[in-house]
Amino acid sequence: MNHFAVILAAGKGTRMKSKLYKVLHPVAGKPMVQHVVDQLKTLGVKRQVVIVGHGAEAVREVLGTSVDYALQSEQLGTGHAVQMAEPVLGQEKGSTLVVCGDTPLLTSETLAALISHHEETNAKVTVLTAHAEDATGYGRIVRGEDGNVEKIVEHKDASPAELEIGEINTGTYVFDNEMLFAALKQVKNDNAQGEYYLPDVIAIAKAAGETIAAHAAPAFEETIGVNDRVALAQAETWFRERTNERLMREGVTFVDPASTYVGPDVVIGPDTILYPGTQLLGKTVIGSECVIGPNSDIRDSVVADKAIVRQSVVTDSEIGSEAQVGPFAHLRQQAVLGANTRIGNFVEVKKSTFGEGSKSAHLSYVGDASVGKDVNLGCGSITVNYDGKNKFQTVIEDGAFIGCNVNLIAPVTVGKNALVAAGSTVTEDVPDNALAIARERQTTKQNYR
Ligand code: UD1
Ligand code: CA
Repeated sequence: MNHFAVILAAGKGTRMKSKLYKVLHPVAGKPMVQHVVDQLKTLGVKRQVVIVGHGAEAVREVLGTSVDYALQSEQLGTGHAVQMAEPVLGQEKGSTLVVCGDTPLLTSETLAALISHHEETNAKVTVLTAHAEDATGYGRIVRGEDGNVEKIVEHKDASPAELEIGEINTGTYVFDNEMLFAALKQVKNDNAQGEYYLPDVIAIAKAAGETIAAHAAPAFEETIGVNDRVALAQAETWFRERTNERLMREGVTFVDPASTYVGPDVVIGPDTILYPGTQLLGKTVIGSECVIGPNSDIRDSVVADKAIVRQSVVTDSEIGSEAQVGPFAHLRQQAVLGANTRIGNFVEVKKSTFGEGSKSAHLSYVGDASVGKDVNLGCGSITVNYDGKNKFQTVIEDGAFIGCNVNLIAPVTVGKNALVAAGSTVTEDVPDNALAIARERQTTKQNYR
């Protein structure tokens, strides 16, 4: 059976009261709609069609070319939104999943179970339901006396009795593709919001004598629909709990899970300890037996085994095994540290490599530099890489020793085992094994006062 997916992402998200389009609000550092698309990718659906409208360009920019798009230029409701996929999917035979772009916690496992249930029951529509403690705002599942689903009624259209129903529509469904596009033509907008509701397809299919099935999600938490900032914070909390629990079961220690934030795509090895206030995002990979935090922010970076990163900010960088970073270091834009390196307090490293065993322990800026092995950069030493227009390279070869408060005016090379005296401003290359002193001699005026 062919599987297709339609992701609804054209709404403005008025209740967010935000300039940012709703489905682009991040949960665990990743836009909500990207969560949905990534889960569908692991399912292996044949084609994903994302319905865009408000912020269409911004959504396309985030999701890229791995999905198809259909434009809904006027937001006339979720049923109307799915109709926009008809030119792409209308002629197909198979099952079509419809998922909202604002349900970021849905897992591929639950979506796979939904599809299996749909196929086992030979249904034309299967809706994913959940039991909510507070169902406010959600569509309610109305079942007949035989227990089968009859229709879905939106909160705003529900009778007092229907408002008592705790079983909600998660906004996730599998439809027989041909039936879906045929039924959508019959959906009307005579309701409280004047919109074409996708859930009305269920009552239409029912009236036509089709089989309607329902499949319950394992927990309400997974199905939360984020319409406002309160739900956004709730989604963030639940997502964090889920991710942290998974990692703890894989052998990662969280000293305080409530204050440790790990993105969905982060990988962490066993026996790594995460201290409070740590945030690991993007495509970050942390090895085993590392110590991270407290208060470290690491994004899109790789940290090898047994490294320590305390109170530091690391972006797009690599840290070698047993390296020590921090407290209060900043690595960015391809800072690549070898094994056993040490980057200490108030050191910024940008677009530079450090060979094995090299150190910059205090108060330095190292930018656009290639630092060899076993180099010592003294306190306050600076690579002067920028003349106001262009950036230049500094090369420091193996075993060199750079004294305190040295300025290395790039482009410049300090040779192997060379020594640069403290306080020097180096403008010319220093040969291997040489000593460079580039500073005024001290003048001492006796009995000056
Ligand atoms: C919807 C369901 C409700 C369900 C809930 C689950 C309808 C009518 N109601 O309500 O039964 O309980 O989701 O979270 O479907 N969108 C478009 N174009 C539109 C309108 C919406 O693309 O014209 C998109 C939105 O961007 C959003 C999704 O569809 O990602 C759902 O829309 P939203 O307004 O959030 O629906 P709910 O009121 O939450
Ligand atoms: Ca919603």
